[in-house]
Amino acid sequence: MEERTLTLKDGSRVRVRPLRPREDAPALERMFGRLSDRTRYLRYFGPKKEFPRQKLRRFAGPDGRNRLGLVALDPGDPREIIAFVCYDREGEEEAAEYAAVVEDRWQGKGLGLQMTRLLVEEARARGIRHLYALVLPENRPMLGLLGKLELPDELGWEGGVGRVSMRL
Ligand SMILES: CC(C)(COP(=O)(O)OP(=O)(O)OC[C@H]1O[C@@H](n2cnc3c(N)ncnc32)[C@H](O)[C@@H]1OP(=O)(O)O)[C@@H](O)C(=O)NCCC(=O)NCCS
Repeated sequence: MEERTLTLKDGSRVRVRPLRPREDAPALERMFGRLSDRTRYLRYFGPKKEFPRQKLRRFAGPDGRNRLGLVALDPGDPREIIAFVCYDREGEEEAAEYAAVVEDRWQGKGLGLQMTRLLVEEARARGIRHLYALVLPENRPMLGLLGKLELPDELGWEGGVGRVSMRL
């Protein structure tokens, strides 16, 4: 996938490109450090203190089909990452897990939705037919974002966490 420039609701222009796992790790870790407790809780379902570096390593493998991450660069300082969306599929499972996080001061400007639309296009092109998201019931922004995708979906529950399954 080529780099794209997205225009947000406030007029900011933000570059989005595929994750480069090794090179991007320090900037992702800095972004993780800037997330509010609320954002961390909504993304990781708990007060996660440590950057999930191990998970990032999975994206460094040669598998360009089962997983893909996209990062958005801060227009004021392109060394910094302000959002990350990804999908990740275990082996030959039918569905890939989708997740997203946008740094607090960039939330609500349309970045998460536009990045997710790009990710969905890429997933389709790579033959992924199903994505699912694990979402806390109080996470209105994420549920709103998923609704805006207008994909056929189904909501299930796994121990108090919603599982939104989408057909691409
Ligand atoms: C959820 C998240 C990724 C959404 O990204 P975002 O860039 O903030 O969202 P967008 O501006 O693209 O909004 C997309 C849609 O979500 C909904 N939404 C966004 N913010 C909302 C809010 N504060 N309240 C209610 N709905 C909201 C709206 O439907 C919105 O569409 P609209 O603006 O056209 O009405 C981001 O807010 C985030 O990182 N949150 C914390 C971590 C998290 O919850 N991750 C997901 C775990 S599954």
